[in-house]
Amino acid sequence: MADWEKSRHGLTTPRDAKQIKGLGLKVSAPEIPAELAANSVGCAECHLANPEQHADSFEHNGYRVHTVVTPTDCAGCHSQEVDQYRLNLMSAAYGNLMNNAVYRDLMKSINGDQKLVKGRLETTDADDLTRADSCLSCHGTKVEMTGLGNRETEFGAMMLPQFTGWPNNGVGRENPDGSKGSCAACHTRHQFSMELARKPDTCGQCHSGPDVPAYKVYKASKHGNQYASLNGDWNFQTVPWVVGRDFNTPTCAVCHVSLITSTEGSVIARRSHQMTDRLPWRIFGLIYSHPQPKEPDTSRLKNAAGLPLPTDFNGGLAATGLIDTGEQDRRRATMQNVCLGCHSRNWVDGHWSRFERAIATADAMTHTATEVMQQIWSHKLAKGPAQQASPFDEAVEKTWIEQWLFFGNSVRYSAAMMGADYGVFDNGRWYQSKNLLELKSWLDLHQRRK
Ligand code: HEC
Ligand code: HEC
Ligand code: HEC
Ligand code: HEC
Ligand code: HEC
Ligand code: HEC
Ligand code: HEC
Repeated sequence: MADWEKSRHGLTTPRDAKQIKGLGLKVSAPEIPAELAANSVGCAECHLANPEQHADSFEHNGYRVHTVVTPTDCAGCHSQEVDQYRLNLMSAAYGNLMNNAVYRDLMKSINGDQKLVKGRLETTDADDLTRADSCLSCHGTKVEMTGLGNRETEFGAMMLPQFTGWPNNGVGRENPDGSKGSCAACHTRHQFSMELARKPDTCGQCHSGPDVPAYKVYKASKHGNQYASLNGDWNFQTVPWVVGRDFNTPTCAVCHVSLITSTEGSVIARRSHQMTDRLPWRIFGLIYSHPQPKEPDTSRLKNAAGLPLPTDFNGGLAATGLIDTGEQDRRRATMQNVCLGCHSRNWVDGHWSRFERAIATADAMTHTATEVMQQIWSHKLAKGPAQQASPFDEAVEKTWIEQWLFFGNSVRYSAAMMGADYGVFDNGRWYQSKNLLELKSWLDLHQRRK
């Protein structure tokens, strides 16, 4: 309540906001319904919107109210952001895990229950609560209403809806009205602030682990270091965001999302809630890096072995579904234009050739490790795809997983976002080389024993 009172929503009416012309306009919907335009954006504007689409609406003082506010509810005033977010990989993050048999298998090997049965470890799938507490806390849950329950509130006892998969603000949450995503992942309720979304800690909530170390890399970079020391003097409220005047080094948002202009007012980058339109590569190894997928739903990709993956175990790309080199060139130019807002062409090209070399070398190290793993499977020292068994559930397979999921990714993210330590001794090349030696020694030792 106090957060809402201080927010732009609590202080502004859509009609006043619509008066702003040019780049500073924040309500992108071409027409705001008359009944919403004249008042500040209050509880009703969000919690009463689109009742017919909300399976979770309930009667409250004669109104049909819902608790779970979705992108469709924001779209009444912010249609452009909602349309773009639909094209963002993040909006599909629930289905990308749950509808992909290979990732489900990986998930089970990580968060499933392990029990000793007659001297053997057996794993059963995690239950919904465990999944919501692990993978789906970031990727998003499926929120479903199970019925109404009596609850004590400050207004007395009330019948309120009960949900499974809630609370959750994962990026790809599947909502009771059929929409995907939670805008509150970055615009935490009830402030819905720009400032929060522009600061790197917001992204760091999910982009930190050894598998996805963007935040750690950023913090260790020159950019992150300058942000940490200087951001007290920056202005996080202005739209458009002016390079040199409002900030002097990039946050995650500057490179990936924001509308930024020069002090002369020319546009350096347009705002993008799609975000992938600035990325030529997917550097997250699945199991190799690859051109970005064309569509946010990755569960429909097929590799040469018929598995729902963008690459096969030998590094070949899925025949369809990934962007072509022309599109990669356009996206590379968009991202590089952001850099050119502050750096010279030579600086940017020099950095970029190192980055693309790191993509290639980290993939090559994954390839060598996978060749060793394939020998382990073919010598029947572990059970793999040829035996219709999981490639993820044995100890030696976990060593191989770390090669691409932790160390390969760390090298690539560190090269992309300049946190050198994560490319070398902290989960980087040191571990890449050591891990490969261990995998090969394991093979040699077990072959000798056989
Ligand atoms: C992954 C993080 C993230 C998510 C999720 C997200 N946003 Fe944003 N949003 C941002 C960032 C970062 C900015 C600041 C952009 C800038 O500086 O130009 C922003 C800015 C905005 C703005 C201000 C635009 C303006 O004209 O000033 C609106 C409105 C907005 N977002 C709406 C939404 C809606 C609606 C959703 C859900 C569909 C959403 N956002 C989901 C990160 C996010
Ligand atoms: C701009 C849209 C918006 C406005 C305005 C808004 N809310 Fe919300 N509210 C949300 C979102 C988003 C959530 C997060 C729920 C979810 O997970 O979808 C939420 C959650 C809630 C919850 C459940 C959270 C909990 O901790 O149990 C309550 C209660 C609530 N809002 C009350 C209010 C009240 C009262 C007002 C007016 C003072 C208000 N909201 C104004 C969007 C809004
Ligand atoms: C009834 C219209 C309406 C709805 C619905 C609405 N907003 Fe807004 N939003 C506004 C207005 C008006 C502003 C203030 C614009 C300004 O300051 O120029 C605003 C501003 C914002 C900003 C920028 C805040 C800042 O710090 O500058 C964000 C982010 C945002 N809204 C996100 C959301 C999200 C997320 C939802 C859905 C949960 C939502 N809005 C629903 C009308 C709406
Ligand atoms: C702390 C947040 C977080 C948790 C918890 C999490 N992930 Fe992720 N996951 C991410 C992020 C962030 C990305 C995107 C990384 C990138 O592109 O840089 C991602 C991407 C993925 C992808 C790629 C999907 C695709 O096709 O695009 C897979 C697979 C994946 N995660 C599996 C898992 C599994 C399995 C679990 C649980 C065992 C899990 N994740 C838990 C944050 C998380
Ligand atoms: C609540 C968790 C969460 C937050 C907060 C979050 N992300 Fe993500 N992000 C994810 C997950 C999960 C994925 C992977 C989706 C998939 O692969 O299906 C992802 C994917 C992405 C991708 C796409 C990567 C690709 O290769 O296409 C980008 C870019 C991204 N996030 C940037 C950001 C930025 C910038 C912020 C902060 C403004 C942010 N994210 C905040 C969870 C989050
Ligand atoms: C100086 C600009 C810059 C900053 C700051 C920055 N990034 Fe990046 N980011 C990049 C570049 C360049 C790439 C690689 C481009 C590509 O993959 O095609 C990238 C790649 C990514 C990816 C894609 C990973 C994938 O799977 O392909 C994610 C996610 C991401 N960054 C998140 C973040 C987060 C979170 C932050 C802040 C903690 C951040 N970035 C800060 C420039 C930046
Ligand atoms: C808002 C301005 C700004 C943007 C945008 C920006 N940088 Fe920087 N960058 C800086 C500043 C300031 C420094 C620190 C001073 C220096 O080293 O020249 C820096 C430093 C660097 C360094 C030196 C790192 C080191 O360890 O010494 C590299 C490399 C770099 N930037 C690359 C990039 C790339 C690539 C992009 C785009 C993806 C980018 N920058 C975007 C401002 C920016």
